[in-house]
Amino acid sequence: MRVYVSAPGKVTLFGEHAVVYGQPAIVASIDKRVHVYAEPRSDNAVTIEARDLRVPGVRVTYREGEVTVETDYGLVLPAISYLNKAVEITSKYLGSRHGVRLVVQSEMPVGAGLGTSAAVAVATVAAYAYSGGYELSKDEIAGLGWEVERAVQGIASPMDTSIVTYGGFMKIRYSGERIERESLGVSASLPIVLAYVEREFRTKDMVQMVRERVSKYPQLYGRIIEMIGEVVRAAERALLSYDLGELGLLMNLNHGLLDALGVSTRKLNEVVYAARSSGALGAKLTGAGGGGCVIALSLLEKIHVVEEVMRFLCGFTMRTSLGTEGVRVEAGKNLGRTALT
Ligand code: MEV
Repeated sequence: MRVYVSAPGKVTLFGEHAVVYGQPAIVASIDKRVHVYAEPRSDNAVTIEARDLRVPGVRVTYREGEVTVETDYGLVLPAISYLNKAVEITSKYLGSRHGVRLVVQSEMPVGAGLGTSAAVAVATVAAYAYSGGYELSKDEIAGLGWEVERAVQGIASPMDTSIVTYGGFMKIRYSGERIERESLGVSASLPIVLAYVEREFRTKDMVQMVRERVSKYPQLYGRIIEMIGEVVRAAERALLSYDLGELGLLMNLNHGLLDALGVSTRKLNEVVYAARSSGALGAKLTGAGGGGCVIALSLLEKIHVVEEVMRFLCGFTMRTSLGTEGVRVEAGKNLGRTALT
């Protein structure tokens, strides 16, 4: 059966890094999606076509009269390895393998910390299973997606694969294989601007660096982790009462604690401070840090100024609404997505 599946990207609103140590985190899906189209093949082969897997960064360096242009194009290859692994892991789970043509497309840049790898993993798991005539529950899709992320990255929390599967706003906590997911009933979308800062370090390296610091100085770094957990609990209350001022304050506090952990960079801090001084209620890095994205929360009447200032510093910004639908499977329909077929 021909299937079309999409899954959203995500932002971590509160609690990144601390979530690795058993603290809760709050995440939300965004209105940019990854699309995967799957069509069974008569032979046993798997083909993958990547269309418009946008990469976030282009660097131009002028040195002694020479101009060098570098891009983050290398990020595309790892993105493709998530499709491969998803096919392998899903066919093993189903106990059956079929040939398939997969086409993948992303509305957001890959490798920017917006959960694109989780969205690719989750959408491919679902697309592969449904194209072979199998149905999976959301729990199964999220679980297999997490397995794919762990197989490719070596280390990953179930946070990203959970939120891109279920969508909405979610509080997540996990320890070992035990995952607690709680959907949060948020009454309205939050006015958010995202800005991308070139990545200097991989998620894996940032998680490893924090781990080393925590084990060297558990009394100090362990307390920062606990404080982030407290921020998350306060943020949940502010989110449920839709208190934007309080949320902004807590975002700033969360950023300060992430900076104390050592995962922010000078450039991320510049963007965070510029957003705040141009009127944002709060701003913080989102995701693993070491570059990646900054999110700023703003009143609607000021959001265009906040966005302009952030774009001036970064080049790439995006306004997004949060809490969109999770993974969506459309099987056997007239897909109407000629771009993908
Ligand atoms: C990365 O988006 C968030 C981290 O907490 C790592 C993880 O939860 O897998 C830094």
